[in-house]
Amino acid sequence: MNHIGRLFQLNIFGESHGNSVGILLDGVPCGIALKEEDFTTDLKRRKAGLKGTTNRIEPDEIIIESGVFNGYTTGMPILIRFLNTNTISKDYSNLVSHPRPSHADFTAKVKYNDFQDYRGGGHFSGRLTLGLVSAGVVAKKILKTVQFETKLVNLGGCEDPNRFSDILDKVIEQNDSIGGIVSLKATGVDIGLGEPYFDSLESTISHLLFSVGGVKGVEFGLGFRGVDRMGSAFNDCIIDEFGKTKTNHSGGINGGISNGNAIEVRVFVKPTSSIGVCQETFNFETKKVESLKIEGRHDSAIILRAMVVLEACLAIALCDAKLIANAYKGE
Ligand SMILES: Cc1cc2nc3c(=O)[nH]c(=O)nc-3n(C[C@H](O)[C@H](O)[C@H](O)COP(=O)(O)O)c2cc1C
Repeated sequence: MNHIGRLFQLNIFGESHGNSVGILLDGVPCGIALKEEDFTTDLKRRKAGLKGTTNRIEPDEIIIESGVFNGYTTGMPILIRFLNTNTISKDYSNLVSHPRPSHADFTAKVKYNDFQDYRGGGHFSGRLTLGLVSAGVVAKKILKTVQFETKLVNLGGCEDPNRFSDILDKVIEQNDSIGGIVSLKATGVDIGLGEPYFDSLESTISHLLFSVGGVKGVEFGLGFRGVDRMGSAFNDCIIDEFGKTKTNHSGGINGGISNGNAIEVRVFVKPTSSIGVCQETFNFETKKVESLKIEGRHDSAIILRAMVVLEACLAIALCDAKLIANAYKGE
């Protein structure tokens, strides 16, 4: 369904070309100072307009409908909305019968029996991530001392940031798209967040990260790159009474529980499926594989705008785990 969270609960709603998109937050403790301006920085980091991003520019003005009074959260559900103002829906009508390869057009068509709102990707659009970013801002306030560092570490296979701009130029020139890897790091995380089995911290973080359209890989610490190491080269030796380790190949989590070292996660975001290059794909009307030319406005590299979304997902997972850890302690 469209909700997640045990104590810090999120319900995501909206469609790309509907009236609005947003998020309903429940379980937010009362007494947290919260105002519209608190969201400005992170919303700006997600905005389009830079090289490699869509030219659908929206004002993204936040509307806090409920749950905040006199500048503080009340403990009641917080409904956050963003109006859709810049929509061109005619661009998408042909994709119902001739679905885009690797987009959600086909799966949505079958699952929702042709009742889905297909305009601009509908509920599957990256536009819905505005709600996640907003929830992330609230989560960061609850986490207080946790610091986040989010970096683009690979663009289209290249790890040299000095070449990213040229790589993007080339992709745009070719009307194509590109993926990449984001590195997320959270420091100042309490020891003890997460559960041993089904709600292990890796599981709850990954659940949120994989909820973001375009995410196809998540690894913690050294992740898959640990495959050729022996235990003696992989293990993180503890070097002080606070559990600090010499290396952080485990990504700050052992036994599903945070160990006090930085939570380190790397996320692979695939190349945008909507590209300007013609692709062969099945047409359900003519019952033939035919060439598809995708119109509309799209990001050449989703990853550029997804970085702050993924950071928000990490914050949301940590926040939920923190509220649960507090409850264990009776706080
Ligand atoms: C911030 C963001 C922006 C996106 N922009 C586009 C876009 O412009 N065009 C597109 O086809 N997909 C875009 N996507 C991805 C799609 O909305 C869709 O979720 C994805 O193709 C689904 O892929 P997957 O479920 O196989 O990972 C974007 C995703 C995010 C998170």
